[in-house]
Amino acid sequence: MNGQELKGKVALISGGAGAIGSATARRLAQDGARVVIADLPGSPMHEVAEGLRSDGLDVVAHALDLSQEDSIREAMAFTAATYGRLDVLDNNAAMKGLPADGDVLGMSTELWDQVMGCNVRGTMLMCKYALPLMIRGGGGSIINISSGTSVAGERYQTAYAVSKGAINTLTLYVASQHGAQGVRCNALLVGSVTTPAMERALPQPMREVLCAHKLTGRLGLPSDIAEVVGFLASDRSSWVTGQLWAVDGGYYAHQPTMPQFAALRAAVSANGA
Ligand SMILES: NC(=O)c1ccc[n+]([C@@H]2O[C@H](COP(=O)([O-])OP(=O)(O)OC[C@H]3O[C@@H](n4cnc5c(N)ncnc54)[C@H](O)[C@@H]3O)[C@@H](O)[C@H]2O)c1
Repeated sequence: MNGQELKGKVALISGGAGAIGSATARRLAQDGARVVIADLPGSPMHEVAEGLRSDGLDVVAHALDLSQEDSIREAMAFTAATYGRLDVLDNNAAMKGLPADGDVLGMSTELWDQVMGCNVRGTMLMCKYALPLMIRGGGGSIINISSGTSVAGERYQTAYAVSKGAINTLTLYVASQHGAQGVRCNALLVGSVTTPAMERALPQPMREVLCAHKLTGRLGLPSDIAEVVGFLASDRSSWVTGQLWAVDGGYYAHQPTMPQFAALRAAVSANGA
């Protein structure tokens, strides 16, 4: 969409300086929203906001540390003071990609508490302090950016994945508790979206394995997620709430064995059997 269907709405995007967050800020602002990008003080949030403003979009940046309750409260107060309301909360920031986040046997209690404190408590507090603003304005839409790692096991990233599982459950509870007040809450289970960090770190053979499991045949782009956030932010999705949606190119929609079985069948038929 390139309309103005978010005109009059105010959106707050945590982690808005990152790959998916900045694409989402552009999408929502292009659709007419006034947008607050909230990110860590050391992030390029001001550069991102300035770039979007230079394209004529209404975007400001504000410091946020998701692991600090005062910082969350302050970001909400800034949004209310700057734009007078809050209609859309995109809980996109996360502590992620920590090399020490491995398996349960080797899990450090400190790392576990740090990830839970940031991702789970932080996302809950973002909802807690956004809800009064949304309710006062007649309702709103909360979009929690979760991950496909929350619904299938792996050998590493245990704390991150479990934190996203908790965010899935939080989504159901917020939707259940505030639907009657006009607040919707949905989660996107994102999978394999290319970011500068992934471009640097993902070896080609691993990329090929991932692509073999994407029913769309490709990895995601930040704009793929931004488009769905835009839909959930808008009144076009006014009857959608409490949903955990996989936005992952179909990664979890097929049998795990499908690509290997297809390769085996192709090999058999190539051998004329
Ligand atoms: N890229 C993927 O393939 C993928 C897959 C599944 C889920 N996700 C989720 O998408 C979201 C965005 O990720 P991305 O890929 O754009 O990564 P990214 O690293 O580009 O962006 C994350 C942003 O969050 C910010 N952030 C981190 N800790 C913060 C804190 N304590 N307070 C405030 N901001 C903080 C970072 O500064 C950064 O700008 C995350 O929730 C991530 O878990 C991404």
